[in-house]
Amino acid sequence: MDGLAELRAKYLEQIAAAPDADALEAVRLAGLGKKGEISGRMRELGRMTPEERKTAGPALNALKDEIDAALRARKAALEDAALDARLAQEWLDITLPPRPRPQGSVHPVAQVMEEMAAIFADMGFAVAEGPQVETDWHNFDALNIAPEHPARQEHDTFFMHREPGDNRPPHVLRTHTSPVQIRAMQVQGAPIRVIAPGRVYRMDMDQTHTPMFHQIEGLAIDRAITMANLKWVLEEFFTAYFGTPVRTRFRASHFPFTEPSAEVDIQCSWVNGQLRVGEGEDWMEVLGSGMVHSHVLRSAGIDPDQWQGFAFGMGIDRMAMLKYGIPDLRAFFESDLRWLRHYGFGALQAPSLHAG
Ligand code: DAH
Repeated sequence: MDGLAELRAKYLEQIAAAPDADALEAVRLAGLGKKGEISGRMRELGRMTPEERKTAGPALNALKDEIDAALRARKAALEDAALDARLAQEWLDITLPPRPRPQGSVHPVAQVMEEMAAIFADMGFAVAEGPQVETDWHNFDALNIAPEHPARQEHDTFFMHREPGDNRPPHVLRTHTSPVQIRAMQVQGAPIRVIAPGRVYRMDMDQTHTPMFHQIEGLAIDRAITMANLKWVLEEFFTAYFGTPVRTRFRASHFPFTEPSAEVDIQCSWVNGQLRVGEGEDWMEVLGSGMVHSHVLRSAGIDPDQWQGFAFGMGIDRMAMLKYGIPDLRAFFESDLRWLRHYGFGALQAPSLHAG
């Protein structure tokens, strides 16, 4: 058969010169594809005399095999080269110093909320939540604070803006966490044992007040809960929180949502201007509490002839200041990185009842 040597030379040259996989495939199709040149020659074999075929057949087959092998070899070589190029480009200098990764810290308020939740959880209290934009019914009326009650003014409430003609019930920024009591009782009924830590808002700003601060509410309703249970729970809490036995003193007080009501002081001393909790002869007021008023139970759909219990509310920010020796409340909310680094906690310093 004529021209096989030229054909061989042509294809081997094109294969060797193919710069990439696509070009190589084009060469393969031109030669060995269905309509390829060499395939065409194969078809011609049918028209030959047996004599001619005897020599042309094997020669053509050998050529086909040789070109096929050359194509494979070139393909493998191209793939190797591509891999080498990628490896050369993607190398990694593992001796380089890493990029700095700024580490945040857990704010003392967040940390203290976690600590408090852990202590109360141990006494069977679950965490409840409510909205910060609250209906004035939940924030006041349901808590037995009538519209004309002076507490509405005392709380220096932020009222939400209403367009003229907007007749939805008025909303406020909640002035305390007490409305979460109502929401929790409405959802869960009695018996119930919850705490509700969160943000509260009052129009107040000076050395010891910020317009937003944090409270934690406690609520326990059952058939026969008394103030003795309240006192025990609070003393257990303060003892665990401060890590030293802490006595409490109850002083008669008034809150619209409790009857009777008590303000609670914890035992402390001042030594060289330094406060020590759990020792000495002084007392420091830390929370308000009492037995939940029957009107409040009724507003939340609970029968006061069947159920009774206690509630309390405590400022979280000051509890954080007391425990961690933080002098100024306003710094809590200034987002000063130096302050946060100094007073903040590591992400892994998870509070537990057994942490030192
Ligand atoms: N809500 C009160 C406040 O913000 C604190 C408080 C007092 C909560 C007595 C209570 C309570 O649950 O029983 O000042």
